[in-house]
Amino acid sequence: NVKKSYKICCLPGDCIGPEIMAEGKKVLAAVGQRFGVEFVCEDALIGGAAIDACGTALPDETLDAARASDAVLLAAVGGPKWDTTDPAAPRPEQGLLKIRKELGLYTNLRPVQIFSALSGASTLKPEVIDGVDMMIVRELTGGLYFGRRERFYDEEGAGADGKPGQRAYDTLEYREYEIERIARQAFEAARKRRGKVASVDKANVLETSRMWREIVHRIHDEDYADVELEDVLVDNAAMQLINRPADFDVVVTENMFGDILSDEAAQITGSLGMLASASLGDGVALYEPSHGSAPDIAGKGIANPLAQILSVEMMLRYSFDMGEAADAIRAAVTAVLDDGLRTRDIADAGTPEENVLGTAAMGDAVV
Ligand code: NAI
Ligand code: MG
Repeated sequence: NVKKSYKICCLPGDCIGPEIMAEGKKVLAAVGQRFGVEFVCEDALIGGAAIDACGTALPDETLDAARASDAVLLAAVGGPKWDTTDPAAPRPEQGLLKIRKELGLYTNLRPVQIFSALSGASTLKPEVIDGVDMMIVRELTGGLYFGRRERFYDEEGAGADGKPGQRAYDTLEYREYEIERIARQAFEAARKRRGKVASVDKANVLETSRMWREIVHRIHDEDYADVELEDVLVDNAAMQLINRPADFDVVVTENMFGDILSDEAAQITGSLGMLASASLGDGVALYEPSHGSAPDIAGKGIANPLAQILSVEMMLRYSFDMGEAADAIRAAVTAVLDDGLRTRDIADAGTPEENVLGTAAMGDAVV
């Protein structure tokens, strides 16, 4: 067995970012030791930290470091210190949008999984969420959010007084290659999971959706006939996600449907501090927790590092094809929770005080 070495560009960012990043690195080091792989982590600046140091949320050196790495691990950016009403002032979130765009990260993967020890955090009945383990695959760089748009006054927008009124439009546009590549990502993800894809569209109404459906089926029949494929209309999908969430494996959809459905699906678990995400393109991928920088608890050593640690799990699975190591992280997190250990955000009235851990102690427990 050749000993491999991977270069990881770490972007701790702001507020609790550096605190949870430290725990992600701890887990990486433990995985490296156990599986005979070397991870070389190098920190770079993004967000408010980068604005303070060099006046821009994504310095060129950071982008270069990201491009030269095998994967990017991000914590979170933002905080009240950099809130501004000046439209010309740099904002931490610009760093995130820019790095996604520059790296061509057109696929957003959000796993939704229930740790049975935490099933009480959901608002859904335990028997409904039992066994929920799905992956939302959202197209991230096309569709309505990037289409032509305009807002103007004209006669057609006139009200009862006959005066010209406002009119606005956004356009939902997709190109064949954009649908092909997201479909492939979804089928690839399904092969690493339970082998099922639900493709969500609005093909009874929208032309883009009819094209979406045709292309998804063509890619399926040509290259992924081993994967089970079903079509679900988006309005029905919104109901079924709540009704029978455990039936879904991979859910693939366009940008706006994915934005809405991924937030709906995230709420099934009830615990934001546990959700990881991956953004993939054709080159280097980026992994980050779904939550933000939690300025309200920054510097206290109480942030939950598990979403960061589960982002490391995704990195091993999707960038390095280290499924066994990824499974080991998942198993460790499950075991820690089954032992009753909690950070403050996931503790409840029944959690004994000695089981409430700080950020570093939780990282140690997982290691
Ligand atoms: P948030 O996710 O940072 O916090 C929401 C609530 O959840 C807070 O009460 C926070 O303490 C708690 N929380 C979040 N993560 C936690 C963790 N790991 N452990 C324990 N508790 C946790 O969202 P909010 O407050 O809306 O935004 C705060 C800042 O984060 C803003 O500047 C926002 O722009 C930024 N943000 C950054 C994101 C990113 O870097 N990808 C995503 C979302 C928000
Ligand atoms: Mg959203």
